[in-house]
Amino acid sequence: MTLEFSLDSLEADSCEAGCIVVGMHDKGALGASAARVDAASGGHITRLIASGDCTGKTGNSLLLHALPGVRAERVLLVGLGEPGALDVARFQRIAQEAARALTGLPAQLAASFLGEIEVSGKDAAWKLRTQALAAAQHAYRYTATLKPQGPGVRLKRLVFAAAASAAQGLEQARGMAIGADFTRELANLPPNICNPAYMAERARQLAAEHPGVTVEVLERADMEKLGMGSLLAVARGSANAPKLIVLRWNGGGAAKPYALVGKGITFDTGGINLKVQGGIEEMKFDMGGAAGVLGAFLAAVELRLSVNLVCVVAAVENMPDGDAYRPSDVLTSMSGKTVEVLNTDAEGRLVLCDALTYVQRFEPQAIVDAATLTGACVVALGKHASGLMSKHDDLAAELLAAGENTLDRAWRLPLWDDYQSQLESVFADFANIGGKGAGAITAGCFLARFTEGRRWAHLDIAGTAWSEGRKGMSTARPVPLLTQWLIDRAAADADSR
Ligand code: BES
Ligand code: MN
Ligand code: ZN
Repeated sequence: MTLEFSLDSLEADSCEAGCIVVGMHDKGALGASAARVDAASGGHITRLIASGDCTGKTGNSLLLHALPGVRAERVLLVGLGEPGALDVARFQRIAQEAARALTGLPAQLAASFLGEIEVSGKDAAWKLRTQALAAAQHAYRYTATLKPQGPGVRLKRLVFAAAASAAQGLEQARGMAIGADFTRELANLPPNICNPAYMAERARQLAAEHPGVTVEVLERADMEKLGMGSLLAVARGSANAPKLIVLRWNGGGAAKPYALVGKGITFDTGGINLKVQGGIEEMKFDMGGAAGVLGAFLAAVELRLSVNLVCVVAAVENMPDGDAYRPSDVLTSMSGKTVEVLNTDAEGRLVLCDALTYVQRFEPQAIVDAATLTGACVVALGKHASGLMSKHDDLAAELLAAGENTLDRAWRLPLWDDYQSQLESVFADFANIGGKGAGAITAGCFLARFTEGRRWAHLDIAGTAWSEGRKGMSTARPVPLLTQWLIDRAAADADSR
């Protein structure tokens, strides 16, 4: 990450920077710093309001150059909408707009005064973190496989006008942004580069660069010994050998670990049930869950959270081939349960079930998996909310709250046993698909059969992990949600000690 953040007590008119960011509500209500700039410049903003050049509508922004009486080279005036306290969603929109504008400017140093805006129920640390995360997101450029376009992002440092008490938000933003950048880059890479071996290599590198992190990569032969017949069946059609990546962080003494498990299908063709309905090229993002749990793990390590963590990634490619697994094959999973394959495109649950069985040897106190698991979840919730499924109300509540806090939101779907009958099979213990209806839930029900007796939750991020279309990029979700959850767990565990 190249963008740096800091915090300082500043005044808008005297602050030296390439650009300062100040807010104004509509109907001409200037924020404190905008009013200061207005006064220093002899009423420049007031005149712009009178002429109609500047409205203060939410998300609008206006760039002013070389205002007399103002030290900064530029002033970015961003619209805050209706006067009064903002809700969190509006503040995030404004932070996004400011970040988009700032990262397009030639300025290397910018200062934001948006922290003075009142946001219902949120403190200075939260406002600072939200702005920093938006800036980090907009400062990202994908350059791995093309010549950098244009001048690139010139912004180097963003200073927040805030009291020192907001420093915690700065530190959390730093951790989350590093994690999110890792996730974004890994997920954006094409599948001819980001294959299972590449993911394992990146995990090894992560461990090498972070003292205290250990890594183990299980090879095909190791997984055969463990009896991972379900994961290995999916891998059979690919020339790229599968990898089961296991990362550990011991920041929490003797406590039982929290476990993160990710679906790492580096490309999902559908296998013999080849995807023929379009959009297959987007299936390079089918390792979004894996990238997400790795990013959250990295964020937790960067923040040196006092928890124990284990992160398991099932990295596999789903290809059609003469040796590929077939619809009607019956697989024996590591748990001993047998599965009838009724569709080779429902491969995510087949790799996850063995990863979920494996992770239980670490006796985790909670397991959360993240997976781009079903198109049905996208139909149900679109691209705004991840699907959350859990039989544990307390764990579900923790995750929903973490999502609200970071605006990386999830919405709970039921995981009632009523749905389990959709998975019935006469040739195996159960089938890998649940037929018409509730596709996201029956996928969750399949996973539930491998996590009985465990505190476990499943996040279906099929709609949220990337923005669709040919210019679509990884969103780095659910890194903010998962990192916040771990921050909250570390705090709660410290309280109960
Ligand atoms: N990776 C896909 C799910 C997916 C589809 C994510 C579209 C994002 C966008 C998954 O492996 C899959 O193919 N699921 C099937 C399951 C079906 C065969 C029961 C699906 O959703 O169609
Ligand atoms: Mn699939
Ligand atoms: Zn898939």
